[in-house]
Amino acid sequence: MFRIESKIDINGTEFERNKSRYMELLEQYKEILATIKKGGPEQSVSRHKERGKLLARERIDLLVDRNTPFIELSSLAAYGMYDNGFPSAGIITGIGVIHGKEVMIIANDATVKGGTYVKQTIRKHIRAQEIAMENRLPCVYMVDSGGVFLPEQANVFPDKYDFGRLFFNQARLSGMSIPQIAVVMGSCTAGGAYVPAMSDETIIVRNQGTIFIGGPPLVKAATGEEVTAEELGGAEVHTMISGVADHLAENDVHAIQICRNIFESIRRHQYQELEIHPIEEPFYDPAELYGILPIDLKKQVDSREIIARIVDGSLFHEFKERYAPTLTTGFARIMGYPLGIIANNGVLFGETALKGAHFVELCTSRNIPILFLQNITGFIVGKQFERGGIARDGAKFVHAVANAGVPKFTVIFGGSFGAGNYAMAGRAYEPRFLFMYPSSKISVMGGEQAANVLITVKEDQLKAAGKKLSPEEREKMLQTILKKYEDEGSAYYSTSRLWDDGIIDPVDTRKILGLAIAISQNKKYEKTQYGIFRM
Ligand code: COA
Repeated sequence: MFRIESKIDINGTEFERNKSRYMELLEQYKEILATIKKGGPEQSVSRHKERGKLLARERIDLLVDRNTPFIELSSLAAYGMYDNGFPSAGIITGIGVIHGKEVMIIANDATVKGGTYVKQTIRKHIRAQEIAMENRLPCVYMVDSGGVFLPEQANVFPDKYDFGRLFFNQARLSGMSIPQIAVVMGSCTAGGAYVPAMSDETIIVRNQGTIFIGGPPLVKAATGEEVTAEELGGAEVHTMISGVADHLAENDVHAIQICRNIFESIRRHQYQELEIHPIEEPFYDPAELYGILPIDLKKQVDSREIIARIVDGSLFHEFKERYAPTLTTGFARIMGYPLGIIANNGVLFGETALKGAHFVELCTSRNIPILFLQNITGFIVGKQFERGGIARDGAKFVHAVANAGVPKFTVIFGGSFGAGNYAMAGRAYEPRFLFMYPSSKISVMGGEQAANVLITVKEDQLKAAGKKLSPEEREKMLQTILKKYEDEGSAYYSTSRLWDDGIIDPVDTRKILGLAIAISQNKKYEKTQYGIFRM
């Protein structure tokens, strides 16, 4: 492979200006993240600690092997919702390493409304299980939850992907021989009782963990029986009488130790072999991304400059370099793993889509994962292009991406708009992971385009009625739409709603993708079966 030759002047004023603006965005992101990571209100945190319990992130720290990375997912779920009353949606999910095996960890944060579930908590829990299923990752559930957040019941209980799905997934995962381990470190009430009850192996902490289908107040109301939580479903009861739990732990630390011991008897399978090379750091410093990444999306950035700061040795074997230049395609390595890269360099034309589809075929025939680097305004519009069959060619690319059996990974480094989002493996196209940068944007189209469309539609309506918009009305409409798109198109809005797996610091991209590709080997890649390519 050849080294990418960067054309960026890292001593120039443009680079410096971009970098200082990017550092502001990054600072803002880190501040928000630090606040979120404190968990629930101060008094809830102190009460939790006074009870001798560890905080959710402390529990995870102790569970994973020392000096190994923990990739936390969707830390900013539910950010800006519920008056910011559900930091991280009250649940921490992520991939860590236990006795050398990658594991999905799902830990309730009881300092956030008793660890109860709102819509985003459920989405996050289900998403973690989906990742576990796609990558055959054992799951550890560190349970400390009051179950459904009752005021939200209509939004969390009845539908297909609501609370019931958590247990459906556990049964399916277990059925696929993917270990399900529960550590009961607090309450597991009502439906929540099924998390430990449906696990392969369950640990419960004495005088702290409880499992019951109906808590003491419900029992009293239903039957008149007065019973304490401990008598009803404490650790003694479940490890000696009911057998609902298998191991008794004296405290959090002991429970975590038992959980680690369980992993000594769990084997790691590697079903898909990739040809791995020694890791080489990029020739160009990844921190230079801050001076290069697009903040003003109107300015095009050569995606090779991004690739050069992510891949091993900045080495890239570019495919069809001279043809359809608004899409960069080629092979590279990240943390020693091979992968095909498809990166935007402008709007998608018919020939660009054909190039993309051709490259996807190369990757699937060679069993090489694909990384999509998105910065896309969409497909080209206009009479000439419609007549040339842009919809037909675009469909070929979308078709190839949808059916590609190799793992896909998506990083949005700029904008993600319109059908470009689909062709470039947006969420609906099931990339194994999708990450955003703090500066990135996502919406059906850019705010200005949306404003122009809506204003044109309005003006046409008024014209038919013999009226027209005054300049003030037009301006007001424009500003309202722009503001709405600005808010709803931000990475924070997306991540809050679990449209992605988290916002990441651009310099961490290599490390995160390296782990993502590594775990994709736990499952044999699917055979690719394309359907009809419209010719
Ligand atoms: N729905 C809505 N809010 C709930 C809740 C639920 N299921 N369970 C707890 N909360 C809220 C409490 O109102 C409180 O809110 P506040 O901080 O705004 O006052 C907060 O969560 C913490 O609850 P608290 O009881 O003070 O904490 P705790 O640590 O002593 O006890 C529980 C936590 C979960 C054991 C206890 O609250 C409980 O038993 N909740 C009911 C659980 C239940 O029956 N769930 C059935 C739904 S499937």
